[in-house]
Amino acid sequence: MSFDDLHKANEQQLTSTVDKIVKEFEVTPEKLDELVAYFIEQMEKGLAPQDNEDKSTNKGLPMIPSYVTGTPNGTEKGTLLAADLGGTNFRTCSVTLNGDHTFSMEQMKSKIPDELLEPTGVTSEMLFAYLARRTQLFMKKYYEADMQAGKEFKLGFTFSYPVDQTSLNSGTLIRWTKGFQIADTVGADIVQLFQGEIDKLGMQNVKIVALTNDTVGTFLSHCYCSDNTDSMTTGEISEPVIGCIFGTGTNGCYKEEISKLTKVPQAIRDKWAEQGKTHMVINTEWGSFDNDLKHLPTTKYDIDIDQKFSSNPGFHLFEKRVSGMFMGEILRNVLVDLHSNGLIFNQYRTNAQLPHRLQTPFELDSEVLSHIEIDDSTGLRETELSLLQSLRLPTSPTERREIQRLVRAISRRSAYLSSVPLAAIIIKTGTLEMRYHGEVEIGCDGSVVEYYPGFRSMIRHALALGPLGAEGERKTHLKIAKDGSGVGSALCALVA
Ligand code: BGC
Repeated sequence: MSFDDLHKANEQQLTSTVDKIVKEFEVTPEKLDELVAYFIEQMEKGLAPQDNEDKSTNKGLPMIPSYVTGTPNGTEKGTLLAADLGGTNFRTCSVTLNGDHTFSMEQMKSKIPDELLEPTGVTSEMLFAYLARRTQLFMKKYYEADMQAGKEFKLGFTFSYPVDQTSLNSGTLIRWTKGFQIADTVGADIVQLFQGEIDKLGMQNVKIVALTNDTVGTFLSHCYCSDNTDSMTTGEISEPVIGCIFGTGTNGCYKEEISKLTKVPQAIRDKWAEQGKTHMVINTEWGSFDNDLKHLPTTKYDIDIDQKFSSNPGFHLFEKRVSGMFMGEILRNVLVDLHSNGLIFNQYRTNAQLPHRLQTPFELDSEVLSHIEIDDSTGLRETELSLLQSLRLPTSPTERREIQRLVRAISRRSAYLSSVPLAAIIIKTGTLEMRYHGEVEIGCDGSVVEYYPGFRSMIRHALALGPLGAEGERKTHLKIAKDGSGVGSALCALVA
């Protein structure tokens, strides 16, 4: 066989292997139906009393009560502080709600230092001292005189990790997700930790009055910003139902009837009822949907990422198939595997010789995938440059074509799976049938849903293919709630 023939045979083998992988990433309409049905079952289990005796039983989704029982209507007014610890950044902001669905905001943002994301040697004190120092910098820049005059500030803290919320301003960390691995934070009260470090810096007049998950913040901010009354008629035409994040991590919350929250003791629910409370926003923590892998599509790459590379093996398995933190890592694992089978990047003999960045877990950012996704340049030049720049990885035109097919398979699976909790919550709450027009609004935030090309339309496509059908999809509106988490925690602080 000539060199050319060999080369061609190798390329054909690469293409047929990629065909198989792409197939494994497909989510069929039948799978969507199955997943939505299972998601509803898991929500119901999570709302019901938990059987503490038998740890082996499946407890369903976490379904965490947020203690938020009302939703803003856009007339709220005031200036409040908000702090927001997400997967990648920490922000301190002051939010002015103008009372007419609009707001203005000053903010200071910093990337979480890599040292705080180390697997060992980091303590809660180190993390929260850093957050307090950043908050102090913000206060000095914008409120120095007020601070000296002893003015009191209310702060809403958005903490984007699973917290067992015990009141509007207290809650303990269940486990870290995304990048952090600080052991002594698990089980500790997040507000006490942060307030303690704020106080140590002599800022006792900054009081954390609300602790909010970012999805709850997004939901509230969407309710505040959306003017969903139809001025031509008297009634509302659409109802904000879900607040969700598709970014570094993924999660969602929705408004549930308190009477269905049977895991909360009856006496407490009676008290809420006496106070006229009928609904509560529930943080589903859907990132941990189907940790038992009964229904989620699973490839060998998903298993490897969870077991070998992630900081929380066995948990948040839905998030590991969907969110921005994992999309690039899935592609990296596929490429390394193809290389070890001699199908791609054959200029490098062993995996150990591959460019260092391709060997390093989580080094392939989903932003790179977003460039490849829409590359329609001749010979996929954009992809070539993007891979050279981000990974120092030279590629041939055939390799790039196959990489683009992989990228599109990974992002499509992510978006199709993202449609599952949305459809499930819409069906469970019966929102589409509630009103004459029955329109539903979903407030979303996060880098993937906001910036990944075509992500929202792929979600819509999957909503139409799944149990909502084309009609349900048409009535569902995915809206970006910009700066949702900051505005939302300010709204929480306002009512606290
Ligand atoms: C966390 C959620 C959070 C989501 C989006 C997940 O990893 O468990 O609490 O809402 O990321 O930031």
